[in-house]
Amino acid sequence: MTKVYLTTAIPYVNGEPHLGHPLDYLLADFYARYRRLHGDTVRLQAGTDEHGNKIYKKAMAAGKEPQDFADENSKKFQDFIKALGVEYTDFIRTTNATHEARVQEIWTRLKEHIYKGTYEGWYCEGCERFVTDKEYADSSGICPDHQAAYQKLTEENYYLRLSDFKPEITAAIESGDLRILPEFRKKEMLKLISDAPDVSISRPRQHLPWGVPVPDDDSQVMYVWVDALSNYITVLGYPDQDISEYWPANVQFVGKDILRFHAIIWPAMLLGLGLPLPKVILSHGFVLSDGQKMAKSLGNVVDPLDVLKRHGLDAFRYYFSRHFDTFMDSDFTWEKFDDAYNNELANDLGNIVQRLSVLCQKNNIYGLVFTPQPDPTYEKLMDDFEFTKAIDYAWGKLQELNREINDTAPWAVAKSDPARAKELLIKLTHQLLAANHLLKPFLPITEQVEQVFLSQQVTPPSTPLFPKERS
Ligand code: MSP
Repeated sequence: MTKVYLTTAIPYVNGEPHLGHPLDYLLADFYARYRRLHGDTVRLQAGTDEHGNKIYKKAMAAGKEPQDFADENSKKFQDFIKALGVEYTDFIRTTNATHEARVQEIWTRLKEHIYKGTYEGWYCEGCERFVTDKEYADSSGICPDHQAAYQKLTEENYYLRLSDFKPEITAAIESGDLRILPEFRKKEMLKLISDAPDVSISRPRQHLPWGVPVPDDDSQVMYVWVDALSNYITVLGYPDQDISEYWPANVQFVGKDILRFHAIIWPAMLLGLGLPLPKVILSHGFVLSDGQKMAKSLGNVVDPLDVLKRHGLDAFRYYFSRHFDTFMDSDFTWEKFDDAYNNELANDLGNIVQRLSVLCQKNNIYGLVFTPQPDPTYEKLMDDFEFTKAIDYAWGKLQELNREINDTAPWAVAKSDPARAKELLIKLTHQLLAANHLLKPFLPITEQVEQVFLSQQVTPPSTPLFPKERS
């Protein structure tokens, strides 16, 4: 039995979950369910990133204590992850006292790579990122992601000597020991690493009141990313416990905007601690709304809870897996979502289950047994994290089956040759169960489909699985 460790980026708790947030969890969950079906033991971490000025200011503006504010929003994220049907095993909060103590110990262990210096330059609070002069000039002083002016900082900070690790990180990425996905981002990361200066990893307490104190220096607070990235190992018990059962992570799921932190600062920290690098860092694209970035100012922000309510969990997961590309930006519109529900979920899967179960019942078919067979094409796609292609492949099997049911017309055969109709229906049902099996990592409803056909007596669902009138 193999042990698998998957991680997801921990969102800031300065707001509520939005439609861009589900991707990390869903991609990790697709893969987790796939590996569990193979008998592997999977640990899947999720959590919330709760320190930093962004959160502190929002709490102040809401007239709340930062911790109370973080508690409320963290709970919303946890409820949200559950609502998405994500089978996570760990939920970590960076304001948790154990995490804070472990991060301080991590800092202490990195000490020989840390020095004090003065930072003079730019900072983006939205990204919680130090910005180089070149970036500042290229974007005319405005962060393209947050549409906010960079802040000028002159302050004493601690630095992590990135130069100690650059050759090793570069070699690991080049050789694929640390695999960056998609492949085209690998070059981008190599270039960023080669240009990257040492990293500032603390802020003066008067500029960052909400964070983990630097050990032995009360005037400084840790840079949020050092605190946040550490969650992937503190959640496993590092440094108090041996984490070698689960570390290095098999896959770390992140959005394309934060790949740089995971491909540069994070490996440097791990190497400084003498820990192995993760095997894969997978960066997904962005969720757009009507072809545009989602932004309150554009009035196109979609509440994921509304999407979940519209047609239920399976429709949500279906749209996110089949209509969102695993690696590229993808668009959400209500119209496309409704179309996918009606024309694909209802017309393909819902319809097949209804037709075949009614026919099985009429023809007295019961006591069916199903043993899934390996499908190398599908497995290769899942092993390569090509989730969109994998569900597309499985869906193709359903569509073929729909055509086959029409072409072979088992209801007509039953009239003239009941024995042959029975044989035919058993074959078609097995095809359905095989396609259904491939859909298991994506759609929890697949359990129900199995129950319909594998119970003692085949009983059609009392209401179709995807009723059209539900919208
Ligand atoms: N707190 C950091 C992550 C720390 S991980 C050690 C952060 N938080 S975030 O709330 O801004 O983003 C959380 C995740 O959601 C990231 O993977 C980010 O890329 C993803 N997304 C945020 N908006 C998104 C879209 N519009 N579309 C897809 N994913 C995006 O970054």
